[in-house]
Amino acid sequence: MTRYSRIIGTGGYLPEEVRTNEHISHTVDTSDSWIFERTGIKSRRIAGAHETASSMAEIAARQAIAVSGCDPEEIDIIIVATGTPDRVYPSTGCLLQQRLGIKNCVAFDVQAACSGSIFALSIADQYIKSGAAKKVLIVGSEICSRIVDWTDRSTCILFGDGAGAVLLAVSEETGILSTHIHSDGEYEDLLYCPNPQAAAGADEQQAGYINMRGNEVFKVAVNTLGRIVEETLDANSMDRSEIDWLVPHQANIRIIAATAKKLKMSMDQVVVTLETQGNTSSASVLLAFNEAVRDGRIQRGQVVLLEAFGAGFTWGSALIKY
Ligand code: UT7
Repeated sequence: MTRYSRIIGTGGYLPEEVRTNEHISHTVDTSDSWIFERTGIKSRRIAGAHETASSMAEIAARQAIAVSGCDPEEIDIIIVATGTPDRVYPSTGCLLQQRLGIKNCVAFDVQAACSGSIFALSIADQYIKSGAAKKVLIVGSEICSRIVDWTDRSTCILFGDGAGAVLLAVSEETGILSTHIHSDGEYEDLLYCPNPQAAAGADEQQAGYINMRGNEVFKVAVNTLGRIVEETLDANSMDRSEIDWLVPHQANIRIIAATAKKLKMSMDQVVVTLETQGNTSSASVLLAFNEAVRDGRIQRGQVVLLEAFGAGFTWGSALIKY
């Protein structure tokens, strides 16, 4: 039997507080029009003081499990993608396992910055295809607002908080067609977030905030995502016209539009959540996927291309027959 990983449930969670561009323009020298024109963002959600990556992950995960109708005890592996874990350890995956009360599974985190959920999908797919696991829960959960320097206008306008989840199950029916993940550690200086407690040496930046040379990241992201699209199509001997939906990482509308153009896709076939969510890092692709499944845009049998790019640099794609 050919084993595929099939998505049997999706979920998402966004915190209550909406922080608009207008609000940010009172604290740093920026404007709603600058932010919207350069990024496509109008507002983002900000987690409350009581929330953590694992608390948000729990809500998204419970939704995905409920949709699937399966017993949580059937889950073999929990993978949480996050760059903003509750604790250095235990992993947010283990904290989520505790919250869900699942005894017999293994749980761990994946840290690939904004590409985290694609990396998690890829790992899960290998376990399922090999027969080593039957059900894998994947959650991307991020509280970016706590690692953003709210006095730095070049980064604080971009990020938001939230969690997205998918539950995968082994199936004879087609599901994930292929995944492709990459990294290149040469680009540390363009996008990084220091860990002040663990850093060695007095020169290290002390504050644990996101540092980004945005314009340089932008250029590499556009080129790299163009290449991963070709790699994914080639690997599946597929023509771009066969893709029904593009679900991209939500970093900047201009990056998303460049990838859509490469695929000769109209923006009507692209799932965009950026305007009201900003960049939720590893949560963004799963949040967008969940939204488009729930509102009926993505239908069973359609071909969906997921892609992401983030610090590391890391990048990847997943081609799915939903
Ligand atoms: O998710 C992980 C991957 N991350 C990304 O993919 C992010 C990629 N980068 C971007 O999305 C864009 O580079 C930004 C939105 C961050 C910036 O847009 P840009 O068109 O690349 O602008 P820039 O950095 O080249 O800056 C242009 C000007 C500068 O002023 P001068 O030097 O021309 O006078 C900036 O100081 O815009 C200024 N600027 C701002 N002005 C108003 C930078 N941030 C702001 C701001 N409001 N918030």
